[in-house]
Amino acid sequence: MQGINRLFQLGLLLGLELGLEGALPPPCDSQIYCTGELLRQVQMAKLYEDDKHFVDMPLTKAPDQVLKAFDELQKSSGGNLSRDQLKTFVSEHFTDPGQEMQTWIPEDWKDSPKFLQNISDTRLRAWAADLHNLWKKLGRKIKPEVLKQPDQYSLIYSAHPFIVPGGRFIEFYYWDSYWVMEGLLLSEMSKTVKGMLQNFLDMVKHYGHIPNGGRVYYQQRSQPPLLTLMMDRYLKYTNDLDFLRENINILDQELNFWRHNRSVSISHNKKNYTLNRYHVPYGGPRPESYSKDAELAELLPMGARESLWTELKGGAESGWDFSSRWFIGSNYLLDIKTSQIVPVDLNAILCQAENLMSTFYSQLGNLQMSENYLREQTQRKEAMKALLWNETLGSWFDYNLENGQQNHAFYPSNLSPLWAGCFSDLDTVKKNIKYLEDNKILAYKHGVPTSLQISGQQWDFPNAWAPLQDLVVKGLAESASAQAQEAAFQLAQKWIQTNFDVYQKNKAMYEKYDISTDSGEPGGGGEYRVQEGFGWTNGVALQFLTRYGDRLTCGSGPVLLPTSWLPLTLLLLGLLC
Ligand SMILES: *[C@@H]1O[C@H](CO)[C@@H](O)[C@H](O)[C@H]1NC(C)=O
Ligand SMILES: *[C@@H]1O[C@H](CO)[C@@H](O)[C@H](O)[C@H]1NC(C)=O
Ligand SMILES: *[C@@H]1O[C@H](CO)[C@@H](O)[C@H](O)[C@H]1NC(C)=O
Ligand SMILES: *[C@@H]1O[C@H](CO)[C@@H](O)[C@H](O)[C@H]1NC(C)=O
Ligand SMILES: *[C@@H]1O[C@H](CO)[C@@H](O)[C@H](O)[C@H]1NC(C)=O
Repeated sequence: MQGINRLFQLGLLLGLELGLEGALPPPCDSQIYCTGELLRQVQMAKLYEDDKHFVDMPLTKAPDQVLKAFDELQKSSGGNLSRDQLKTFVSEHFTDPGQEMQTWIPEDWKDSPKFLQNISDTRLRAWAADLHNLWKKLGRKIKPEVLKQPDQYSLIYSAHPFIVPGGRFIEFYYWDSYWVMEGLLLSEMSKTVKGMLQNFLDMVKHYGHIPNGGRVYYQQRSQPPLLTLMMDRYLKYTNDLDFLRENINILDQELNFWRHNRSVSISHNKKNYTLNRYHVPYGGPRPESYSKDAELAELLPMGARESLWTELKGGAESGWDFSSRWFIGSNYLLDIKTSQIVPVDLNAILCQAENLMSTFYSQLGNLQMSENYLREQTQRKEAMKALLWNETLGSWFDYNLENGQQNHAFYPSNLSPLWAGCFSDLDTVKKNIKYLEDNKILAYKHGVPTSLQISGQQWDFPNAWAPLQDLVVKGLAESASAQAQEAAFQLAQKWIQTNFDVYQKNKAMYEKYDISTDSGEPGGGGEYRVQEGFGWTNGVALQFLTRYGDRLTCGSGPVLLPTSWLPLTLLLLGLLC
């Protein structure tokens, strides 16, 4: 409770500040999908189990007509409408979500991509073929109506079809798409990847950055900036230098957004450094989680609410919504202070992007820009070394701007500089391995946990997420240390086992897994029920299956026998796999 009190006082201070400055702008201009009375009343009446449902509903008429009808109804009923009135109003002026898209079978999908042949274990190979099949379920194309009448939809039109994560996530998501694309490239679907890249480049042209996802209410927040890496992966498979040449300025423009809108200067030991953070200075509850954000804010005085909502949006921008990583002083969501934390992974991703941009520009013959990017990367590496690295503990850590200290809790993102190839010397790798051992991370049976804290949030223990497995495995696998390479394989084997076992039980892939149970289960916690599909989980599984196709097995899985029966267990395994 101490944390809450502290925030209460701080909130009063911030509230005064905000009072002087006035309210922050809403996340988009729409008086229906982003702000206004209609949104407030419908979401607070909780007409649907998930607030995202309402803001995904297309309008049946132009928005000004709908707003006018709502005003009139309000006037005739003297203010707030009853739940029944709201229900009727919504059914008359909106249609069900999802109808503005159609499922789309990717044209470049084919029956037997070559990577399948590289998986020796026959049951894993059959499962990999199922995962490859799932692309056909997750493909979506936006109907032309959305282009004709954009203000009747919250969906942002994109010209090319794409792969969605699945479940409640029926539109594109920015950082998810990177792992989806890695999987698609293994599935030999570079044409689909190019279309998705083009959609993202169009977003940058239009908004100056890539929104969190393909809905207007996500517009003013982004997600971990992986566009440059997506381009790099696409080029590795296609060598399409013309596409790079046509779009290099747009990649530069996206990084400009991070440079100008998301940077922070930090004074440390008489030197000034610049690094990046997640920060979304827009007001109001998140439209797609409106009632949850509004109810949480009711625990704070009026003046502190805008700042809470800003920090929640910042948490969403980080992709880790939500996690103890962003809480300062307690384990409660109310203490979220995303903008006061300099995250390791964001800076590792940008460090990698700067390196890639330097290479891209030099390939295209623009040596000036190539040098600029290299200089930026050098400065970032100095800053990361000075502020985020801890020699004693052998890892990087998020940096707290409020107290000038590192957060020494374990998160897989602490190892992201290795994954990004930003620091990969043998000495660093060895320290990182020791760090993992010191924290007993390699001892978890079903994968790398998101953190060691139990907060009830989905980006904390006991959940494990596919992209975070990749963040650890790839960095270790591509290092020069044989010990790290072996650790990477062991981690990949455990993760594949978890995914495979749960798939055998439920015939589904999930967005996250609970690794605290005996066999691994779909994950839980956070703001909504665990979702099936699932884009990035499939992408990471395909990557591991390909990288280690000759060594992975579907292992001990469903057979749970006492260890004294080991010979029998081994016999059964032999029969199963
Ligand atoms: C409508 O509800 C809000 C929130 O509960 C309240 O602040 C407001 O006074 C109500 N308006 C009327 C006219 O009852
Ligand atoms: C399959 O394995 C062969 C031999 O190790 C390798 O050359 C090839 O690149 C692999 N193919 C894929 C799609 O990973
Ligand atoms: C980025 O910063 C510029 C200049 O301060 C501002 O005009 C623009 O709206 C900002 N973009 C976002 C998405 O906040
Ligand atoms: C660091 O930045 C501060 C504030 O902008 C400035 O006053 C100070 O001179 C700078 N220090 C160095 C060493 O550049
Ligand atoms: C590194 O961690 C040690 C042990 O917790 C701590 O004493 C030291 O201050 C940390 N170094 C930095 C640069 O934060």
